[in-house]
Formats: sequence, C-alpha cells, structure tokens
Amino acid sequence: MDSRAIENSLRADIDGAATPDDLESVRVRYLGRKGVITAYLHGIKDAAPEDRPKIGAEANRLKTLCESLLEDRAAAFGGGVNPHYEPPLDGTLPATLGVAGRRHVIAQTFRRIRDILEGMGYRLARGPEVELEYYNFQALNFPDEHPSRDLQDTFYISKDILLRTHTSPIQVRFMEANRPPLKIYAPGRVYRNEAIDPSHQAEFHQVEGLYIDTDVSMADLRGDLIAFSRELFGPSTNVRLKPHFFPFTEPSVDVDVTCFGCGGGGCALCGQTGWMEIMGAGMVHPNVLRAVGCDPDKYSGFAFGVGVDRIAMVRHGITDIRLFLENDLRFLDQFEEPTS
Ligand code: PHE
Repeated sequence: MDSRAIENSLRADIDGAATPDDLESVRVRYLGRKGVITAYLHGIKDAAPEDRPKIGAEANRLKTLCESLLEDRAAAFGGGVNPHYEPPLDGTLPATLGVAGRRHVIAQTFRRIRDILEGMGYRLARGPEVELEYYNFQALNFPDEHPSRDLQDTFYISKDILLRTHTSPIQVRFMEANRPPLKIYAPGRVYRNEAIDPSHQAEFHQVEGLYIDTDVSMADLRGDLIAFSRELFGPSTNVRLKPHFFPFTEPSVDVDVTCFGCGGGGCALCGQTGWMEIMGAGMVHPNVLRAVGCDPDKYSGFAFGVGVDRIAMVRHGITDIRLFLENDLRFLDQFEEPTS
C-alpha cells in the first residue's frame, strides 16, 4: 500500500470507530508492532536508496497523523485514549448488595409511638439519663422514705445524682421551663436495679406523655389513651383503667388494653386475662404543679408513662426482654421497619 492509500483507509477506520474499544483496535491495526504504518516503514529496506528518505518522512507523517486523529476522536468520546479504560457501568446488571443494616426493634417501636403521639399534637421533649435526685423523686412528690428511692431499685452515682428510674423527671424539667398549655411526649432509656429475668431488665425504655391546660380532666386522659391504643394495636382495642398509686399523680391508674394476641378472649400472651398492662397514668398531683410554680387551682393535667419494651414484646410476640440488649443479629434481623 502506498502512503495515500494508507491515509485514506486510516481516516475511514477512525471515522467508523463507534466506541473507545474500536479506537484501540484501530491504533493496534496501524501503529502496533505488526501494524500497517509499521509495515510501511519496514518496507524501507527493500526500497531503492533514493526513495528511502521519502518513505521515512511519509511513515513519520502517517504516524503523527494517526496519533492526532485517534486523539481527536477519543476526545469526542469524552476522554483521551486511556489504557485503563473501562466500559461504562451497565445499569441493567443485577446489583451486588452489601449487608444492609436496620433500626433496632426498640427504635422502630419508639418511632411508631412518636408518629402516633405527634399526630395527636404532642411535641418532643427530652431530658438527661444521669439525673438529679430532685427531678427524679423530690419534685415528683416522692416522700423521703419512699421504697423506690432505695438503693435496691435506684442506681445512685452520688447522694444527689442517679440514673433516672423513669421518664417522669422530664415532665418537671419541661414544666419549669415552659408555661401551660403544654402537651409533650418524652422518650428515653431508664435504669432500675432489677433482678434480671425474662420480663425484667436493668435498662429499659419509656415514653412519657404530659398535657397541662386550664380544664384537663380524667376523661381527656381516657380519650387520648383510647385513641393512642387503637392506633397502635388496632381499631377494636379497648382500654381499662385500674386504680393504682403513684406519688406524682392523683388519682393514679394502671392502664390495660385489650390483648393484642387474642382480642380479649384470653391467650398465653395475656396470661388468659384478655388484657395487657402497658402503662401507668394519672392526673398530675397538685404538689408537682406547685414544685414548678404552676397554680394547681388554675391548671390541671394528666401524665402517662408507656413501657416501650413491653409494647415491642406484645406487638412482635417476643417473650424474653433480655433479647433486646443482646445484639444478636439473628434476632434483630427478624424485625422490619414499619412502613407507615
Ligand atoms: N413513671 C411511672 C413509672 O415509671 C409511670 C407513670 C408516668 C405513671 C406518668 C403515671 C404518670 O412507673
């Protein structure tokens, strides 16, 4: 082939290259060790001595031309000729997924409770896990000799500082800093020095609810508890209030809901009673209102404290509370995030 013919076929081949791969084969075909231009240059040894300078010059011209054409064409593809070139990602290939994490089942339960209470107008409040004795007990009207102040139940850090035993101190902190009307929920971890067994753990979780305004009654409490329980456990759920005692509420109640497992007929989940106890509640004690400078003759309100671990157990049929803290993925992987 003479140099004209080589140039023509080179131009045609480069024009015809549709991908960076095509360009690479054009490069090999012309400039490779056995390439067309290389062969042309090698022809110099068979040529007449007077033709040799011309062949050398033409070979150089073709080589430079070929390189610059390749480069221009490659630029049109969006890059230089790249020896490390990789074809574009193929979005139709099946994905190789890593191991996806998920929220802990307790966190999922917290979020479900949060969604319901926020929908009912409760706003988030928070408080510390390392708490003053004052907020955990004294401002909540616990008498000095109350048994739950005992070292048996409470982890004391010093005489005045402890790990909170419930989320109720957040009520006091919030009422100190805000005037009624107020309506809050306060989620958190709480600590008690319990003997550990399938239904007791030294760390567990609560969500506190608090509503203070000028005319709040026990009927409002009952109404909110019914609305909350029906959202959480289904529309046919009923609520039963049983007289109880808490120092910071008067009257105080234990709250039962229709068993989620049997709908009230009796099953293993509810110990054949048809009811499940999921929280404590009551009307905020006048002494608690006084402790935060709120006039009990003007304001009243209710509070409730939901056991989150208990609710997670009931909703998922979990029979041992200790599983929540063991972090065994075989257990945790069974709980899908609620989609709501
Ligand atoms: N703080 C109580 C407990 O931990 C629950 C509760 C909260 C009761 C609010 C009444 C009102 O057991």
